[in-house]
Amino acid sequence: MNHNPRSRTWFRLAALYFAIGVALGVTMGASGDHSLFAVHAHVNLLGWVSMALFGIIGTAHPSITEGRVAAVQFWMYNVGVPVMLGALTLRLKGFASVEPLIAVASVLVGCSVLLFAWLVFSRISTTTERLSSAARESRLS
Ligand code: HEM
Ligand code: HEM
Repeated sequence: MNHNPRSRTWFRLAALYFAIGVALGVTMGASGDHSLFAVHAHVNLLGWVSMALFGIIGTAHPSITEGRVAAVQFWMYNVGVPVMLGALTLRLKGFASVEPLIAVASVLVGCSVLLFAWLVFSRISTTTERLSSAARESRLS
């Protein structure tokens, strides 16, 4: 395994969201108040699951974590997700006025996902990555 710093950050964030998501799940189960179940589901799925996948895919293909597009993808996601989930929590607690914020933040998350798709299509198995892994292999043999 390599030591890709961006992947390490994704893993740390994923673990943090996992802790928050499960704590919310346990709290919902214990209190019987499931009003925040959509927040719990998306903390776990956009946070724990998707961030762990970003980290694992970045470990397997470091080229998708490098450069400006990857940095923009990272920051759009990491601003969009907490803002969206924070605003959704407020919305579910009765603050209807935060709806536009949920909309803007979810579009930000959506754009980040499109950038991620672009990175996957344009950088995985490109000639450069094949050449650099071939160079690594020839050094090892
Ligand atoms: C100890 C851990 C967990 C507890 C106690 C817990 C508890 C709960 C509870 C009480 C609900 C609400 C059910 C309802 O009102 O319909 C729920 C929903 C949900 N949870 Fe968890 N959860 C846990 C972990 C997770 C994890 C790790 C994930 C995802 C990776 C997850 C994904 C979901 C999803 C997607 C829903 C919504 C399901 C639906 O559409 O009804 N949960 N959970
Ligand atoms: C910007 C990103 C996303 C937005 C804006 C979004 C929005 C929504 C909305 C509006 C619902 C219906 C909620 C309801 O009827 O109460 C929903 C449900 C659901 N979404 Fe998402 N979603 C996003 C990303 C994801 C991702 C990435 C996953 C899985 C990896 C996911 C899994 C689910 C599941 C399992 C449900 C059913 C449980 C629930 O109602 O909370 N969502 N989502």
